[in-house]
Amino acid sequence: MPIQLIVASSEPRFHDFVREQLASTPNAEVTGEHEDLGPNLSARILHDLNLNPQSAILLDISPDPEQGLRALEQMKLAIPGLYVILSGFESSEELLLRSMRLGGADFLQQPLKRAEFSDAMIRLEEHAQRIHRQGRQIGRMYTFVGVKGGVGTTTAAVNFAALYARQNKSTVLMDLDMDSGDAACYLGLRHQYSLSDVAENLDQLDQAMLDGIMARDPLGFSVLCAPEEVEKSRLIAEQHVREIGSFLTERYDAVVVDGSHAIDDLLLSCLELSETIFVVLTQEFPAVRNAQHYLGALARAGYGHEAVKLVVNRHEKRGLLHVSLEQLQQTLGAAPFWVLPNRYDEAMQAVHEARPVVTRGNTELGRSYRDFARKLGLDGQAVAAAQQKK
Ligand SMILES: Nc1ncnc2c1ncn2[C@@H]1O[C@H](COP(=O)(O)OP(=O)(O)O)[C@@H](O)[C@H]1O
Ligand SMILES: [Mg+2]
Repeated sequence: MPIQLIVASSEPRFHDFVREQLASTPNAEVTGEHEDLGPNLSARILHDLNLNPQSAILLDISPDPEQGLRALEQMKLAIPGLYVILSGFESSEELLLRSMRLGGADFLQQPLKRAEFSDAMIRLEEHAQRIHRQGRQIGRMYTFVGVKGGVGTTTAAVNFAALYARQNKSTVLMDLDMDSGDAACYLGLRHQYSLSDVAENLDQLDQAMLDGIMARDPLGFSVLCAPEEVEKSRLIAEQHVREIGSFLTERYDAVVVDGSHAIDDLLLSCLELSETIFVVLTQEFPAVRNAQHYLGALARAGYGHEAVKLVVNRHEKRGLLHVSLEQLQQTLGAAPFWVLPNRYDEAMQAVHEARPVVTRGNTELGRSYRDFARKLGLDGQAVAAAQQKK
């Protein structure tokens, strides 16, 4: 998220300091400078904001704090959402309180220090990201994560994307499993480009570019594949995933993510954007134990019962070597949101045919997936009816 700053100070050294600091901050620039802090300062700053509406303000109030606070008040009256950082030598409790009441967002003590300035820029950037997410997130992101490999995460993500697309909702499946990249394979998609191509050209990210990169499933959803080469996967950073994820949620009704099993930075940046996190597990003992750790880690990262839903896959009613659903619920402190039956033949047949199991006539697994979607408010009946017409 770029940082843009309009700087007002009567002190040339103040301007030099800020310019120098921003020059070494990626994606940051000064979009306006004022050395004359005279009475019409707020009007001049508002004029700058017409040209660069995303800018924040850094206002040095040290020569005349009263006049500075008046300028703050005028600017906030004109643009209530404006982010204004005040700066001064004096930082009495009374002054800070007054500036806070007038809507000042931050305060930088003078003389300016590099570390404090850079912390203030991080706070500004985080603020901008929050606004960006709140204001523009339209679609929904559903992230499937597995407590270990092989529990059925990719199968679930692929079928969920298929069910969404069947509802005539614009849908993207994003494969974030850099180790396997199975999603494209399960759908029989050949792909030349991947997530790493988007990450490498992030400054040119637009719909046309994505259309050129994403593969398209016959059901109508798009697939943003994982790179096939490990070296390329390493180039993808959390910031890329965050920006690509935000872009997609703004433009699609649903973004379904095939997450992998490790809670790493890439996955965490996706979880931030996700409305629901489906934690996929089986009734095997190691899976349940991992799920316990996984839920703990998610809870520590701030994701509680509302956002996290357990999906038990390959359910066996009478598996002697399996953890029963009751034990599972007791161990994990949460009831499964959905339980999918163990139908290896149906799951494998779907993989061989490279079509999601929900598109295959009368399968028990397909039915269960449709009911799962219906429980989430996606109309499973409509999906089944559309299926029968085929
Ligand atoms: N409900 C199910 N019953 C039986 N086998 C399943 C089921 N769901 C998935 N599978 C099979 O389990 C294997 C692993 O599934 P996959 O989705 O690739 O898991 P993951 O992405 O967690 O590694 C695949 O062979 C898949 O066909
Ligand atoms: Mg997988």
